[in-house]
Amino acid sequence: MTAVIINGRDVADKKKHEIAQEVSSLKGQGVTPGLVVILVGNNHASRTYVTNKEKTCKELGMNSLLIEMPEETSEAELLAKIEELNNDAAIHGILVQLPLPKHIDETKVIETISPLKDVDGFHPINIGRMMTGQNTFLPCTPFGIMVLLEEYGISVAGKHAVVVGRSNIVGKPVGQLLLNQHATVTYCHSRTKDLAEQTRQADILVAAVGIPNFITAEHVKEGAVVIDVGINRNEAGKLCGDVAFAEVSEKAGYITPVPKGVGPMTITMLMYNTLQSAKESIN
Ligand code: GUN
Repeated sequence: MTAVIINGRDVADKKKHEIAQEVSSLKGQGVTPGLVVILVGNNHASRTYVTNKEKTCKELGMNSLLIEMPEETSEAELLAKIEELNNDAAIHGILVQLPLPKHIDETKVIETISPLKDVDGFHPINIGRMMTGQNTFLPCTPFGIMVLLEEYGISVAGKHAVVVGRSNIVGKPVGQLLLNQHATVTYCHSRTKDLAEQTRQADILVAAVGIPNFITAEHVKEGAVVIDVGINRNEAGKLCGDVAFAEVSEKAGYITPVPKGVGPMTITMLMYNTLQSAKESIN
């Protein structure tokens, strides 16, 4: 079997077009969705992500504000800045780019962001709402994966989904969203015994481990849907995912490439969440 390639770039473009239309009509009602991104320190990868977020905001007609704070910013200073933005009616989304410098407690920072402006979907209140199936901000990468499945008409109910990786940002929430849509979910991680035995059971396999080419053909059942969340560099410095694309795409039914797979969906769903927050603010 040769897999259908899930084109995340195309789906993201379609969704961004829809979001831009809604932004435009919201502006007609006097509200421009506004996202603040806070970047603390000089992490190189973070800077690239943050620039892309700003650029996409502008493309879609939203207001975007980048607040850059130096590496030596104290936790108290950062928390005070968040409080200020929590109280600013023109700001609908607050995103603090992770990772933060070691002297700042990420949990405290996330819990200080108002759940009403937590467009990352990282606040425990929003995670709790997601777990109980309530309407809330969903974390952007898992949300983007669910949208890709929907757009390609891939049903989830009754399927066996295997998630490799258990991060708070991707692994845990994507498993929960798949469960919410009635999949049977298995989580695998670094301590899982005989990983391939588990992953070969998957109708839907999500790889979110951060190791280049970690998932090979022997891990994959014929015809499976393979979602690759990895953004890695191989030995040659080339962008690659967690899945050995060439060999797995010969066996899978559907596969997301890297780049142009899950990646473009993450920022798109951040824009979607910011738009929803702005809409809520006028209700
Ligand atoms: N760092 C890497 N991914 C993310 C993300 O989705 N949100 C935030 N805030 N930081 C990140």
